[in-house]
Amino acid sequence: MDAIVLLKEDHKTVEKLFKEFEKAEDASPKEKQKIVQKIAHELTAHAYIEEEIFYPAARAEVPETDDHVLESVEEHHVVVWLLSELDKLDPADERYDAKVTVLIENVRHHVEEEEQEWFPKVRSALGRNKLQELGERMEKAKADAPADPLKLLSARQ
Ligand SMILES: [Fe+2]
Ligand SMILES: [Fe+2]
Repeated sequence: MDAIVLLKEDHKTVEKLFKEFEKAEDASPKEKQKIVQKIAHELTAHAYIEEEIFYPAARAEVPETDDHVLESVEEHHVVVWLLSELDKLDPADERYDAKVTVLIENVRHHVEEEEQEWFPKVRSALGRNKLQELGERMEKAKADAPADPLKLLSARQ
């Protein structure tokens, strides 16, 4: 699968879960926590393949994306720390929903920048075959993604 198509599919999956959380306003804390755990799982695997494969490839092959990639890693940093805080926070805590809302806002902003500002540059610079090859590597690498978001490169940067 084309690397950018794969990443955009992930973005859609996560957006669906965000909507599910937003609709679950009156659900029990346990039910909300279940959705957040799914979000954490999806986002961690997604950030992993971006950080390990897609971002380095973009920087290496499309030098003009450098600043965008660096900013994206900083955004991942914020998101993975929010995920780890949410993992430790009681879903009945009054701060829980607020923290999830900030997580969602951060990710939506991040996805928009990726899709609007710099993925198109990578697409035109790399071309079909390279994107296909990258996509295949990324699909396989998902299986190696850590469960703990703080194991991601961006958590330590
Ligand atoms: Fe990203
Ligand atoms: Fe992404």
